[in-house]
Amino acid sequence: MNVIITEFMDAPAVAALKSKFNTTYDETLVDRRAEMLAGLAECDALIVRNRTQVNAEVLSHAPKLKVVGRLGVGLDNIDVAACKARGIEVIPATGANALAVAEYVIGTAMLLLRGAYQSSAAVGEGKWPRGPLSNGRETAGKTIGIVGFGGIGQLTAKLAQGLGMLTVAYDPMIADDAALWNAHHTKCMTFDELLATSDVVTLHVPLLDATRNLINATRLAAMKSDAILINTARGGIVDEAALAAALRAQKLGGAALDVFDEEPLKAGSPLADCPNLILTPHIAGVTKEANTRVSSLIADRVADFLQHATS
Ligand SMILES: NC(=O)c1ccc[n+]([C@@H]2O[C@H](COP(=O)([O-])OP(=O)(O)OC[C@H]3O[C@@H](n4cnc5c(N)ncnc54)[C@H](O)[C@@H]3O)[C@@H](O)[C@H]2O)c1
Repeated sequence: MNVIITEFMDAPAVAALKSKFNTTYDETLVDRRAEMLAGLAECDALIVRNRTQVNAEVLSHAPKLKVVGRLGVGLDNIDVAACKARGIEVIPATGANALAVAEYVIGTAMLLLRGAYQSSAAVGEGKWPRGPLSNGRETAGKTIGIVGFGGIGQLTAKLAQGLGMLTVAYDPMIADDAALWNAHHTKCMTFDELLATSDVVTLHVPLLDATRNLINATRLAAMKSDAILINTARGGIVDEAALAAALRAQKLGGAALDVFDEEPLKAGSPLADCPNLILTPHIAGVTKEANTRVSSLIADRVADFLQHATS
């Protein structure tokens, strides 16, 4: 059986696959598409992160493909319907990086609410900007509005409650009277109620037609003028130009974006140099610990699948 890994995977997980299968690991293969395609003819299992587009072109070059392992959660780089039509199993690392994302949300929420950590240069130069930095806000008692109450949303609620935050959420796929809301000590709200109520709004929905531009100029205007917006879900869910305009006009307290319409962000983006904005390069779910969990989960599940496919 032949396994091809086109993006970064933790070394022990690669070694585990190599001990069982003919495994090719090249984390730069994603950037050499023609070479990658040419190598797929005998491929039984393909393992990718979020940069390898597993589309009709890939499938047409991989006639023996049985399983795609995704070192992460979002499946928007994989044509899941085409895989299903060919009987190819798609295995995401559901849950394995949830804690990394939830901690990122809490960390950036605290940074942006407090607003006091950009003073290193000034303090180093002997300035003492106590006045402008004395109005930061505490996290306890604030309301965090969680949009999409799945695995990451629920874990974020748990961490936020540990800090004394009130948790509210919007998720149209979960019934208003579902037992889950009480179990997670979280109030179910309409989207409008959540936007009007929350000091921090954090997004944990997949990118779908229904969630594209979910946070647009109208929704931003419906948020509290000092609220914080955090998007670790997917680019395309937040209208980047509208967000930049709201921050520049001080109609929003701050924002953190880990995901973008186009990654890497293009030069000249309206987001560049925006006030009170934290930009990170799609790493919310990527920590040492999460890498280990994601890689070992995918190595185990892909190996199980291939072994069952041959038994
Ligand atoms: N930045 C990163 O590094 C990173 C890492 C992991 C996951 N993610 C992203 O985080 C997102 C959430 O992941 P998860 O594991 O919690 O997924 P999940 O499937 O467990 O939860 C998603 C939730 O969104 C809800 N939902 C669907 N459509 C909705 C809508 N229109 N409005 C409100 N809620 C809606 C679903 O009912 C579900 O409860 C995914 O998009 C994933 O791609 C990003």
